[in-house]
Amino acid sequence: MVDVGIVGVTGYTGQELIRILLNHPEVRISGLFSKSSYNKSIQSVFPEFASRLDLVCVKPDIKDICAKCDLVFLALPHTVSMKLVPSLLYAGKKVIDLSAAYRLKDVKDYAKFYEVKHKDISGLKEAVYGLPELYRNEIKAARLVANPGCYPTAAILSLAPLVAFNIADFSSIIIDAKSGVSGAGKKMVEAFLFSEVNEDFRAYKVGVHQHTPEINQELSKLGGKKINVVFVPHLLPLNRGILETIYVKKDKKGRGRGKDLIELYKKFYKKEPFVRIRAEGQLPKIKDVVGTNFCDIGIKEDGDNVIVISAIDNLLKGASGQAVQNMNIMYGFREYTGLL
Ligand SMILES: NC(=O)c1ccc[n+]([C@@H]2O[C@H](COP(=O)([O-])OP(=O)(O)OC[C@H]3O[C@@H](n4cnc5c(N)ncnc54)[C@H](OP(=O)(O)O)[C@@H]3O)[C@@H](O)[C@H]2O)c1
Repeated sequence: MVDVGIVGVTGYTGQELIRILLNHPEVRISGLFSKSSYNKSIQSVFPEFASRLDLVCVKPDIKDICAKCDLVFLALPHTVSMKLVPSLLYAGKKVIDLSAAYRLKDVKDYAKFYEVKHKDISGLKEAVYGLPELYRNEIKAARLVANPGCYPTAAILSLAPLVAFNIADFSSIIIDAKSGVSGAGKKMVEAFLFSEVNEDFRAYKVGVHQHTPEINQELSKLGGKKINVVFVPHLLPLNRGILETIYVKKDKKGRGRGKDLIELYKKFYKKEPFVRIRAEGQLPKIKDVVGTNFCDIGIKEDGDNVIVISAIDNLLKGASGQAVQNMNIMYGFREYTGLL
């Protein structure tokens, strides 16, 4: 049994982690850490856990976290994660950080898009980007996993085969992304109030969204040269779920190679338990994946244009589900344990 703790447990991803881990046969939830709800029972915070989890939330004190846990999920804002990670690693703990603190390898990008200086360069060097489909071997040996962002998870999985096999014209990638409101977390912000979001639909952070450098970083690594995508996020009047419509032109040299793209995607993800490629003419929708850890991908060719449509649950494959998938890999459990 692995003893796991969740820090920042009263947020959306913390709640999802409890839901998943309660059904995981190899782990015990040994500590719930909360700044806002310490001394409260988790059942009083989330009545859905009554009769299922009898724990009281405690303050996120490093000594206490280390005494109770082998592995710690940090479901926190990135600046808060960065304060805890060095001490947790020093104490020999494994960490899966759901925030953006350790995702961007270029500290200049981090400073530009998150408007704060990075304070843990050694942790940043050590961190493994936790996208199992691309980094499974590195995750196996990792002490610190930087769990990917929700939009980047869908975007990178949608584009990886086209980039890895040089089928895409790298300068042509446009990602039109839409997310439900839980993607922004639980904080009180006027723009996310029910009456602001309901029956409306809008683009936001165009050209400045913090997930843009994360997508660029991973696609550039895969393609072997610098890739700058156009990324436009939108806010959907839904609780959860992401749908991305991605437009790519085929590279001149890549045209012959991409004859049957659906087959190529199926081969690329043949051994992946959580990527489902749709048959010709079938496209994913948000309802197909909400409540699951799957990323569903549909592909349509239109002359030299390729349109890729993908859907994930932002709180599962885009956050807590992927975090548990990473934990399973780190401990050598079956990758889908607790997730199917
Ligand atoms: N929501 C998503 O779809 C999603 C997807 C991928 C990644 N992420 C990332 O995962 C992390 C958690 O996301 P979330 O959606 O769960 O956010 P959230 O609902 O806003 O929860 C974050 C939790 O962190 C704790 N916290 C907040 N401010 C704090 C502070 N100043 N000091 C200490 N603790 C603080 C609070 O929990 P306590 O009071 O219980 O400590 C809060 O409930 C974020 O970094 C987010 O960017 C989220």
